[in-house]
Amino acid sequence: MTLTRQPENARTRNKATGAAPIRVAADAAGEVPERWRKEVACILITDKEIAIRVAEMSRQIERDFTGRELVVVSLLTGTVMFLADLIRNLSLPLRLDFMGVSSYGAGTESGELVFTKELRISVRGRDVLLVDDILDTGRTMSRVLAKLKALKPRRIRTCVLLNKAARRAEPVEADYVGFDIPDFFVVGYGLDFAERYRNLPFVGVLHPQVYAQGKKKKVEF
Ligand code: PRP
Repeated sequence: MTLTRQPENARTRNKATGAAPIRVAADAAGEVPERWRKEVACILITDKEIAIRVAEMSRQIERDFTGRELVVVSLLTGTVMFLADLIRNLSLPLRLDFMGVSSYGAGTESGELVFTKELRISVRGRDVLLVDDILDTGRTMSRVLAKLKALKPRRIRTCVLLNKAARRAEPVEADYVGFDIPDFFVVGYGLDFAERYRNLPFVGVLHPQVYAQGKKKKVEF
């Protein structure tokens, strides 16, 4: 994998969502902490960049939901860090619930979707903010949106930290997007590969040999 800087004309903000541009430094591997250097090729988004953007997103959501009470519906498990940082920045009355949805298998492809946890809070007539860590093929978001819409909320807005538009297979976009990212296999800040790397404080790009090895050995690496 070659990591190159994006051209300047691709580094402007997304006009619709305000998503921040991504800096991919060719020498970024040097920034990866020693402990993770064998597995993580580079840091795509630093913890500081995440903190700044998540605070911006919270301000935007506050403005859009002024005077309303929110039901935040967060998808397990990848949202763990993003959700915590997002809602601690939200000065709005809100209730929080989780839906469990997971693509079957431990590989890098989104496979069959399985619902592992249902909502406990009623969203009927409520303002819902659906939070996910990454919008990739869009299959998860499409399935979850269909399920939520059937519960008759007043309105639903969608919020993702990362948007990987290059792999979209379903016609779905998020209302709030932290970062538009290239088609790299990313881990950290909640995102996993075979349930690992969720604890990294940054979003990093996994070395291809790690997921190639993980696939071959079925996560026994
Ligand atoms: C990941 C991620 C999103 C989904 C996005 O979930 O958290 O929910 O894939 O992919 P898609 O747009 O192609 O559907 P995963 O099933 O890996 O579960 P996790 O959150 O527990 O890691």
